[in-house]
Amino acid sequence: MESDLKSQIFQNWTDEHTNIFGKDIMTVRHNLADTGLFTDEALADLLDKHPTQKVDVCTMGNADPRFPNKFMTGDFRDCDGKTLMNAAKAGAVWINVREAMNVHPEYKKVLDKMYGAIEQITSRPPFNARGGILISSPIAKVPYHCDQTETILWHIRGKKRIYIYPTSEEFMSDEDYQNIITQDREDDVPYSKDMDASARAFDLAEGEMISWRLNAPHRVDNQSFCVSVTTEYSTRESAFKNSVMFTNAVLRQRFGVKSRWSSASMPEKYTKSLAGHILRKVGAYKTPIGEDMVTFKVDPQADGYIAKIDPFVRNF
Ligand SMILES: [Fe+2]
Repeated sequence: MESDLKSQIFQNWTDEHTNIFGKDIMTVRHNLADTGLFTDEALADLLDKHPTQKVDVCTMGNADPRFPNKFMTGDFRDCDGKTLMNAAKAGAVWINVREAMNVHPEYKKVLDKMYGAIEQITSRPPFNARGGILISSPIAKVPYHCDQTETILWHIRGKKRIYIYPTSEEFMSDEDYQNIITQDREDDVPYSKDMDASARAFDLAEGEMISWRLNAPHRVDNQSFCVSVTTEYSTRESAFKNSVMFTNAVLRQRFGVKSRWSSASMPEKYTKSLAGHILRKVGAYKTPIGEDMVTFKVDPQADGYIAKIDPFVRNF
């Protein structure tokens, strides 16, 4: 069974991959394109049937220099899947089909095999695995950010370059990380160009998967129209860290106490992890209500498919 799933999903997974998976950056070739689920036609059909609330169509703005390429949200409800695919190919939109790999049985079957293969190879059970599909334009960029769970990028079509940065505080302070885990949608981290000197850059080929250490900041520049799957899942390690960081965020917000993850003792972390579970349940951290403003509309008649509109709060 093991060799069966492994060879269905991966082409060249070696013992070396098994040793470094989750500990360092690694790439391996995969077979997702063979499923036929990521062609233009299949993706247009997917966009037609996927729930609107689980689709984001974004373009990039430049209002605050600390957060270059911040996303702006678009209204796509007048467009069918085919038009949205054309918009991604022609314009500057970036489409995130959230949980596409979970919602539809034909995609879920593939996601189960992907994680089944990883679990069998590494003997580490991932839990709560979710997978989205990213459909993006030649000039799309995913800004510098970090994910709060284990993330894997399964690149399928086109060319993109990913930059992955060290996990030290210099690249993401505890405070920035606490902001990520307490405010769901705001997961950008301040970035400046000189940080690139410490990054490792990878030009992903079609059919290549890349994974990195938990919480390593990264950013992506497309070099062509691209289709990728991103999967995320929790592990004991990520859940533990996020609970501790949640407690630290509450202590900072309520009492102005600054605590550092890297210098805390294990007993302190254990106590804070337990506290974090409870504090989360009782809603101890007051999250500012960030409204998702819709600032453009996808329109095949407009220049680059982007039509400016009067902004409104997303209600779809
Ligand atoms: Fe990411």
